Amino acid sequence: MAAATTSGRDTANSLCSQAQTVDGGASLDDSNAVNLWFARGPIAIAHAGEQLTERTEEAASPLLEAHGIWKYFGAVTALRDVDLELWPGEVLGVVGDNGAGKSTLMKVLSGLHPPSEGQIIFDGRQVQFSSPRDARDLGIEMVYQDLALAGNMNVAENIYLGREPTRRVLGGLMSLFDHRAGREKAKQHLDNLKIHVKSVEQKVEELSGGQRQAVAIARSIAFQARVVIMDEPTAALAVKEVGKVLELIIGLKNRGISVAIISHRMDDIFHVCDRVMALYHGTNFAEAKLAETTRSEVIGWVMGTKENAKEPAHHRSG
Ligand SMILES: Nc1ncnc2c1ncn2[C@@H]1O[C@H](COP(=O)(O)OP(=O)(O)OP(=O)(O)O)[C@@H](O)[C@H]1O
Ligand SMILES: [Mg+2]
Repeated sequence: MAAATTSGRDTANSLCSQAQTVDGGASLDDSNAVNLWFARGPIAIAHAGEQLTERTEEAASPLLEAHGIWKYFGAVTALRDVDLELWPGEVLGVVGDNGAGKSTLMKVLSGLHPPSEGQIIFDGRQVQFSSPRDARDLGIEMVYQDLALAGNMNVAENIYLGREPTRRVLGGLMSLFDHRAGREKAKQHLDNLKIHVKSVEQKVEELSGGQRQAVAIARSIAFQARVVIMDEPTAALAVKEVGKVLELIIGLKNRGISVAIISHRMDDIFHVCDRVMALYHGTNFAEAKLAETTRSEVIGWVMGTKENAKEPAHHRSG
């Protein structure tokens, strides 16, 4: 398995030393979202260093599992009996040709589409999502292909969109969006992630593609995320912005967050992933740990060939 990058370790170590000054108790409420997010840090990054990469082997069971997922859209069968496992702290790459069912599978896992058949297991329990809200309540967040940010709102408002920090007024009878708290928390949150924007009051439509992607990722982990699903997060980015987004993904992993990333770019997959799975025509085609496969093998899977391939990992015992 690829070792955590030096910069990933540095980020983790620097956060670790900052985090020691924060009370890691579990009594923080939702309105203290940044602290709550931040309080998770020491738990995950106490293992910063080489041991980080061992976590997926150490975990007893996957955090998120899908078993026998089918999805029909009218006459179209987008998913056929698909299985997936995502382990704690793992970065899973999901590859496949256009129309292979990648986005549909991720939308099923994040509560946007109910599966036509099949089971989703989260943290050992079977779950059913009737909306993305249900998945989010468990800590499963998705960053969509089109980002779903509001361009005409500023950075801070986007981070807290739909779950704003509020303050009680009129003796607690009403709550109002607390702009000041929102700005401060958003700024602190972005600083912790080393995301640079001119100001959190800047409108999202004024940001570069890379900054927007970074804000979307920041939004996804502003509240207790345990799983972040990303649909082609680097597809629309210039080369220099891609590296920043990939570093952010490594930062999430270093905090113990599990990430599933859809990408057509082998550079992304081989830079950040621990494992890769390929869908082909809506079914599982192959999967392997990164250390046990090659770019040309994975490109072959995308095209539906296994000529050079060993037996896929999910057919191996153990
Ligand atoms: N909402 C929908 N209604 C009808 N058909 C859909 C819907 N969403 C996806 N499909 C179909 O399901 C299949 C899988 O689509 P999906 O978007 O999951 O592919 P993908 O692997 O993400 O492809 P790409 O790499 O192009 O993003 C396609 O045939 C697509 O047309
Ligand atoms: Mg897609």
